[in-house]
Amino acid sequence: MREILATIGRVAASSCTVLVTGPSGTGKELIVAALHDASPRASQPLVAVNCGAIPENLVESELFGHAKGAFTGAHAARQGRVAAAEGGTLFLDEVGELPAPVQVNLLRLLQQREYSPVGDSRTVKCNIRVVAATNRDLEQEVQNGRFREDLFYRLDVIHVRVPALRDRASDIELLAMHFFRTCVEKSGRTELQGFTSEALEIMTGYEWPGNVRALENVVERAVLLGPGPYLTADDLPPRMRHELPSGRMAAAALPEGGIDLRSAVELYENELIRKALEKTGRNKNRAAQLLGVNRTTLVEMIKRKGL
Ligand SMILES: Nc1ncnc2c1ncn2[C@@H]1O[C@H](COP(=O)(O)OP(=O)(O)OP(=O)(O)O)[C@@H](O)[C@H]1O
Ligand SMILES: [Mg+2]
Repeated sequence: MREILATIGRVAASSCTVLVTGPSGTGKELIVAALHDASPRASQPLVAVNCGAIPENLVESELFGHAKGAFTGAHAARQGRVAAAEGGTLFLDEVGELPAPVQVNLLRLLQQREYSPVGDSRTVKCNIRVVAATNRDLEQEVQNGRFREDLFYRLDVIHVRVPALRDRASDIELLAMHFFRTCVEKSGRTELQGFTSEALEIMTGYEWPGNVRALENVVERAVLLGPGPYLTADDLPPRMRHELPSGRMAAAALPEGGIDLRSAVELYENELIRKALEKTGRNKNRAAQLLGVNRTTLVEMIKRKGL
């Protein structure tokens, strides 16, 4: 996350296109807002367009505006979101959901910084920075033919990849405390003192499929309902309390075409070692304890595997 923030700091001043990808709930929108706020465009609008929430036949007019009479119901000419973002940042959220015809028009916008409103043959020039976000794997979408390759390369100038929460487990406690403080303030439950170490441990070890968004919800619920003065394991959702460290293994799937057992096991092993290192801030003694191996073995494994 520090690397991501450093990247944002480095590219904020320019107007280059930035693509933010990562699983749902990892904070992509916050990153885009931070980028805009750090840029010289901060005093100009940040206009977000949720490409997945607008009906397919309206995306184009929503983005580029339309002329009077351009389609049934277009009683008056209307400005689009691109025009609203003039001088500022246009944030194309859920860009992976864009219908193919609009992808073409977006390409022109990105290449020439110009567009034509729907039903209007005029060309309009614009001065915007484009930032796009998606929780889809765009490279994969390109390969499957669902996303235009040329558009992908236009968006993929600076690519910020936001990691899943479980891959930055040392953030969990910090974020939990952050949400604890803000929720306590909002709810007025100032008698609450914090989490028990058991509750923190469960949260740190959890997989967090819903990422930061889910963590925020879990903390909020605990603050509202927990009897206090400390929030305990009992104040966390039952599914979290019952999660065993082997939860992942139980979910392991055997694909139709089979797998290579050795490399699958190796991947699983690497994942656990990485997690133990992450959780302990790369303290090899404590990581070795967590994994039930001795320190020398762990050091040797880390070296051999290049972890
Ligand atoms: N580092 C962080 N600090 C504080 N709050 C965060 C952080 N990261 C995420 N959040 C919070 O988590 C929630 C989800 O973040 P956000 O909406 O940015 O997710 P997203 O990556 O856009 O997800 P999706 O792909 O589902 O749209 C928000 O309420 C956001 O405020
Ligand atoms: Mg989002």
